Amino acid sequence: MKHIPVLLEEATSLLLGNGGNIYVDCTVGGAGHAKRILEKNRKAFLIGIDIDEEALEIAESVLQQFKGRYVLYKANFADLDLILKEENIKEVDGFLFDLGVSLFQIKSKRGFSFQIEAPLDMRMDKEQKLTAYKVVNEYSEKELIKIFKDFGEEKLSRRIAKAIVHRRRRKPIETTKELADLIVSVYPPKARYGRIHPATRVFQALRIEVNRELDNLKKALDKTLNFLRLRSRVVVISFHSLEDRIVKRFFKSNSDVFHLITKKPVVPSAQEIRRNPSSRSAKLRAVEVIMKSR
Ligand SMILES: C[S@@+](CC[C@H](N)C(=O)[O-])C[C@H]1O[C@@H](n2cnc3c(N)ncnc32)[C@H](O)[C@@H]1O
Repeated sequence: MKHIPVLLEEATSLLLGNGGNIYVDCTVGGAGHAKRILEKNRKAFLIGIDIDEEALEIAESVLQQFKGRYVLYKANFADLDLILKEENIKEVDGFLFDLGVSLFQIKSKRGFSFQIEAPLDMRMDKEQKLTAYKVVNEYSEKELIKIFKDFGEEKLSRRIAKAIVHRRRRKPIETTKELADLIVSVYPPKARYGRIHPATRVFQALRIEVNRELDNLKKALDKTLNFLRLRSRVVVISFHSLEDRIVKRFFKSNSDVFHLITKKPVVPSAQEIRRNPSSRSAKLRAVEVIMKSR
């Protein structure tokens, strides 16, 4: 299943608008954005990072025609400083973050979606130990409530955590479907058939917890500051309010360094949403460095 890059022209135009040539795609995924960057700027050299080795295999095949103009790293973007050090790169013209998961990950049997029966896994990095199974079956009730509240903004966090703890006493909760059905059963009948599925928020929360998504994003954004030069750009596409809040705060708390290019977030057009419904919650924010920070 091919991932359709979101806000492709908008993101790449904003990223390349400063006329530089060293770019870091921190979430290279299926390389939709990366390919467009290399096509649009013939002098560009791209460092592509992804934590998911399957994503990198796809990226490698998509980028083949640009051999010599890119390198790919299987790594957490929170370690972007180590990668740049290895590449001996001290200054970067632009960083792109296209957050979240790609379509091929959602459609895989890796537990990201409550609509696809699969073991509770949700790891982007298959080498890591923490899985959604461990969170669901081993975290305390209190910890589950906190995750569902903080990372899912789920109003029924208490009731859902209680139901999970009650159920797992008999037998571990092993699959996406078991968990999704349990969540649905906790919801009052009238609220079960709303616009969004009752399991949406809990699944989002589990994915964020398993992959430490918010911590990694904060760390990575902070680290970009060490590699920016005058006129470098940072472009971030986020998919939910928790990510977007981190991005907004980061740009605001460094407002002496950054000029905000996007006064309002750039969002997909009605046409893009029709073509690619998964783009509907995307928000793009971009800044340009007006004063070198460090
Ligand atoms: C929405 S997809 C990117 C799609 C890509 N822009 C394209 O055009 O195909 C997000 C990617 O970020 C990766 N990712 C998420 N968190 C990461 C992290 N902390 N470090 C590195 N990659 C990460 C995921 O594995 C996924 O492949």
